[in-house]
Amino acid sequence: MTKVLLTGGAGFIGSHTGLTLLESGHQVVVVDDFSNGSAEAMRRVAELAGLGPWRQASTEHWTAADPEGGRLTLIRGDVRSPQDLDRAFTVDGGDISAVLHFAGLKAVGESMTQPLRYWDVNVTGTVRLLEAMGRHGCQTLVFSSSATLYGTTDQVPIPETAPLQPINPYGYTKAAVERLLTDVAASAPGWRIALLRYFNPVGAHPSGRIGEDPNGLPNNLFPFLCQVAAGRRRHLQVFGGDWPTPDGTGVRDYLHVMDLAEGHGRALDLLLAEPPQRLTLNLGSGRGHSVLEVVQTFEATNGLRLPYTVVARRPGDSAVSVADPREAERRMGWRTRRSLADICRDGWAWQSANPQGYRSAEKEPIGELIRAQHGS
Ligand code: WQD
Repeated sequence: MTKVLLTGGAGFIGSHTGLTLLESGHQVVVVDDFSNGSAEAMRRVAELAGLGPWRQASTEHWTAADPEGGRLTLIRGDVRSPQDLDRAFTVDGGDISAVLHFAGLKAVGESMTQPLRYWDVNVTGTVRLLEAMGRHGCQTLVFSSSATLYGTTDQVPIPETAPLQPINPYGYTKAAVERLLTDVAASAPGWRIALLRYFNPVGAHPSGRIGEDPNGLPNNLFPFLCQVAAGRRRHLQVFGGDWPTPDGTGVRDYLHVMDLAEGHGRALDLLLAEPPQRLTLNLGSGRGHSVLEVVQTFEATNGLRLPYTVVARRPGDSAVSVADPREAERRMGWRTRRSLADICRDGWAWQSANPQGYRSAEKEPIGELIRAQHGS
């Protein structure tokens, strides 16, 4: 039984990964400022993991446990705060074996207008985290990186050896953090670091209890499409019908968030079992699907119609972005197992059961926290 810390663990990828790690027998500590995550998601993760009622251990941290030793601890904190990080490393006797670092800002468009905030949260936040890891003797880190690093490359599929050519502040911060982690790994013996470059994580846990709940207008295709299906948005705009692709719409590598969560579990197990190393892996399906294919699969899988119009291309987009996932399979025996239809089925199960996302939180102590967070 190991104990791991998830920064940003109340967000979309973090919450699904936290559940997978709990089900694999790890104890999980989550530190999150709830700027883009939800304590309600944590309440539901505990429910899905079969953990007992929440106990409020202090004004800023809650724990849900079970008699067999399973434990989820939730700390409200900012990854840029040494004090918050020290609490996360020492809560319930400390002894954190590894960190999975999800905390960060990830909206490409927003990064163009708020570069200082993106560099502060994504890069300074990681520096603070690494300092805290040093104070607490922890040298094992899984980092949430991104395919956005590859920019608008023409390579299809994209291997990890492709040149890094980010084209927006968000991508530059991811490249900077990868550089930082490479330097740290080379600076002292003992570091075990995995850089996981996500392609397009989408979908939701099949229970429909947790899923993607972006703040405000979704930037990304899949959550926007789900909100159109739920009647929360009027119609989908397809950005470009004149790309050099089979049907003229953009092609991406969509992977089910549960496949992605399992990939984190595999990377963690590999780091804990093998000698110190720095590992860089693409996490994608290796299959590309166009926007219209996603729309048509969603409609066919869920028996509904999605209104859309084809409009001009979105600045900064590329025609095709598909992973070469062979290295992840070679190094950790991981590959995606779920199809685009699985993604559409599970994504709709979440959105149809939660049309307003987590904002319609049931009345629970954690739910009260949600209302405080969102000021509602
Ligand atoms: C997918 C396709 C759009 C919205 C981004 C980030 C990347 C990662 C995933 C964090 C494209 C089209 C989209 C819409 C559309 N995030 N589209 N209408 O741009 O591939 O990747 O999110 O790491 O870093 O760059 O994802 O979902 O925005 O777009 O037609 O309303 O859907 O043109 O072809 P993208 P996306």
